[in-house]
Amino acid sequence: MNNVTTNFSQRRRWATDQAISFLMQQGVEHPHVLSLGAGLVDAASLPVTESIAAAREMFADDLRARAALQYGTTQGDLRLRQQLADYHNRLEQTSAPAAQRAVTVDEIVCTTGSQQLLALLADALLDPGDICLVAAPTYFAFLGVLEGVGARTIALPADEYGLRMDALNAELQRLESVGELSRVKLIYVVSEFENPTGISLSLERRVQLVEIAKHWSTRRGEKIYVLEDSAYRELHYGVRTDAVPRPSGSGPVSQAVRPLPDGRGTDFLLPSVWSFDTTGDTVIHAGTFSKSFSPGLRIGFGLMPRELRDAVNDLKGNQDFGSANFNQHLLAELLASGRFAIHAEQVRAAYRIKRDAMLAAADEFFADLPGVSWVHPHGGLYVWMTLPPHIATGFDSPLFHRAVDVEQVMYVPGEICFGGPRDERQRNHIRLSFGVQSPDGLREGMRRLSQAVRAVL
Ligand SMILES: Cc1ncc(COP(=O)(O)O)c(C=O)c1O
Repeated sequence: MNNVTTNFSQRRRWATDQAISFLMQQGVEHPHVLSLGAGLVDAASLPVTESIAAAREMFADDLRARAALQYGTTQGDLRLRQQLADYHNRLEQTSAPAAQRAVTVDEIVCTTGSQQLLALLADALLDPGDICLVAAPTYFAFLGVLEGVGARTIALPADEYGLRMDALNAELQRLESVGELSRVKLIYVVSEFENPTGISLSLERRVQLVEIAKHWSTRRGEKIYVLEDSAYRELHYGVRTDAVPRPSGSGPVSQAVRPLPDGRGTDFLLPSVWSFDTTGDTVIHAGTFSKSFSPGLRIGFGLMPRELRDAVNDLKGNQDFGSANFNQHLLAELLASGRFAIHAEQVRAAYRIKRDAMLAAADEFFADLPGVSWVHPHGGLYVWMTLPPHIATGFDSPLFHRAVDVEQVMYVPGEICFGGPRDERQRNHIRLSFGVQSPDGLREGMRRLSQAVRAVL
C-alpha cells in the first residue's frame, strides 16, 4: 500500500502554492523577524472589554444565551441582519445623504469572514476558463480563490483613482472581438483603500463602473456582475498632516482628495459602488468586521441580487448551514449597544498614528533613494512602495533574502498581487502593512528595510 498515491481532484491541484501559506510559514519559521508583511490587525486595540461586556449581557438572559449556543440559519441571524441593514444604510447616508438606495434584511447573507463570501461567489459564478477582470494589483487571496476554481484573471491598469474605466471598456471590447465576452462573469474591485495599494476608487469611476457592467451585460445577454470588496471601508484616517513636501519623481504619491459634490465629506468616505446600482441587479457588496472590530469573530456579510443570494445560500448550506451563530449573536449585541461604533472610532485613531509613523519613517529612510516612491494612503492598512524597475522583490529575490535573513524584516512581495500571466507581472513593488507593529516597531522595520534596499540598489 505504501506507494499507492492519492488522485486528488482538479480543484485541489488548482489550490496549490498559495502565497498566503508561504507567508504564514515564513512568520512561523522566523519568529524574530519584524513583520511589515502580515495583514493582521493591531493586537493592542482588539475589543476585549467590549466583547466581555456584550457576552455578559447575552448570558444574562437565559433565552438569548440558549439561542446563541444553538445552530443558526444558513443566511445568518435575523437580528444581526437587521443590525447590518441599519449599519450599512447609516454608512451610505453619511457618505451621500441623498442616497436613495436602502438595503433590506432579505438581501443580506452573513458569512464566515468576507473571504467565505468571495469563495462562495466564485463557486456560484465561475466555471473553469471563465474570466474575472481585476485591477493590477489587487487582493492576492482573492486571486488564489479565482485560481482555485480554474478561472482566468485579466489584470487591468489602475492609477491614483483606482481601476481605469477606459481600460476596462477597452478590454471588454477586445474580448467581444475575439469571441470571449461570454466567458466574462465578474469584475472585482476593492473599492476602499485597496489591499495592496491603499487607493480608493473615485466617485466618478464608481458611477462609470456600474454603467459599464450594465452596458456589457445587456450586450452579452447575460449578467456581468461587479463584486465590490469593501473590507477597509471603516478604516479611514484622512490626510496626513505632517507630510513633508518631496521633490517630484520620488516620495509619496497621494490620492487626490476632493470634496463630494454635495459638499459633505470627501473621497475618504464615499458612497459604495453598490449604491449606484439603482436597479439592484448588478453589484455585490462584500463587507467584514475583521478590520474594524475583530478578525477572530470571522463575520463578513454580502449584499446581493436575489438570484445570487439564493445561489450563495445553497452553496453555503452544503458547506456549513450557517456561520458561527454565537459570534453573530455577539456582534448583534455589540452593534445594538453602540459599543461597536465607539470601538471603530478608537481603531481609526490607533491606525492613523501608525499610518503616520510608517509614512514618517518612509520619509526618513527612503527619501534619498533614487527611483523609490510610495503611495500615501488615506485609509486601510497598507503602504505600497515601488522600487526601480530592475529591483525584483519576490520570495526568491536577493532583496527578500537580504531583508529576512540579514536585516530581519519581512514584507509582502508586490508580484503576488498581480493577476494574469505570471511572466507579465510587475516585480518591483512591496506591500508594507502598518497593522501589527507599534509606531516604534514600524520605524525600526522601515529602517531595516531601507538597509536591505540600499544593499541591492
Ligand atoms: C481586500 C480584502 N478582502 C477580504 C478580506 C478577507 O477578510 P475576512 O475574511 O477576515 O473578512 C481581506 C483580508 O485581509 C482583504 O484584505
